[in-house]
Amino acid sequence: PETAEYTSFLSAHGTFSRIDRILGHKSRTSKHTDAVEVLLERKGCAGVITLNRPKFLNALNLSMIRHIYPHFSFLEQDPETFLIIIKGAGGKAFCAGGDIRAISEAGKANQKIAQDFFREEYMLNNAIGMFLRKPYVALIHGITMGGGVGLSVHGQFRVATEKSLFAMPETAIGLFPDVGGGYFLPRLQGELGYFLALTGFRLKGRDVYAAGIATHFVDSEKLGMLEEDLLALKSPSKENIADVLDAYHAKSKIDQDKSFILEEHMDKINSWFSANTVEQIVENLQQDGSSFALEQLKVMYGSFLS
Ligand SMILES: *[C@@H]1O[C@H](CO)[C@@H](O)[C@H](O)[C@H]1NC(C)=O
Repeated sequence: PETAEYTSFLSAHGTFSRIDRILGHKSRTSKHTDAVEVLLERKGCAGVITLNRPKFLNALNLSMIRHIYPHFSFLEQDPETFLIIIKGAGGKAFCAGGDIRAISEAGKANQKIAQDFFREEYMLNNAIGMFLRKPYVALIHGITMGGGVGLSVHGQFRVATEKSLFAMPETAIGLFPDVGGGYFLPRLQGELGYFLALTGFRLKGRDVYAAGIATHFVDSEKLGMLEEDLLALKSPSKENIADVLDAYHAKSKIDQDKSFILEEHMDKINSWFSANTVEQIVENLQQDGSSFALEQLKVMYGSFLS
């Protein structure tokens, strides 16, 4: 969308206008903020967003959302920004999800913050998928689950490494696969998305790419160099950025010849999970009776069916 559309979308949204009034002015007038939980930096041709709660595996909380969202409009309007990079600090996680503990404590204390968290988180996910005009590169190195998936999967480029660990584990805590899961999961191959949603199955390393969650795979020891090369681009187009990512992807060796972990089960998964109801899926798994089928049943009973 054009800037005008983006801006009118943003101002049409009451919540955004409110956040914009509180934080937007600050993020538009200063290139850095003093927040610790998320670092917003301008480097080379890019705006670099670093989720910075490594002790909490960069779990996303409302303050982080309220820094990132208005910063998008600064980056969108900044003529020196051609690219947005988002990553996690600490090397273990991109983002392990929403800060469930903070949300449930706020919920118990009956604070409005619990509702605000989800509304503003989903608006952020939607903005990444629908309104960013500049290329968005998420370096999903390490744990990338739930809320972390929402911050990455809707963007143009997602770079996994051998340390990437993906899951949509919401059903295990009595939630639905949110953060736009209802959009991206059904668009994966066959019934894979239904399987990932209902079982919370974890995908690791190159399988995150094979499943279509990541657009590129890069050996983690090359990730720093990749970032440097992206930052050094001069007024890059989307194609220039894709070329750099493609070149790193092509050079990455780890697990190059390994087949997709679910490959041998995909025909079965497509047939079990094409049912229209969870009851029918359960019946399909029971009827199959194979150890893989029963394992999935056990997982589902261990979470939302119990
Ligand atoms: C978010 O995390 C930061 C850093 O851990 C903390 O200072 C802040 O109070 C948290 N905000 C919310 C709303 O939980």
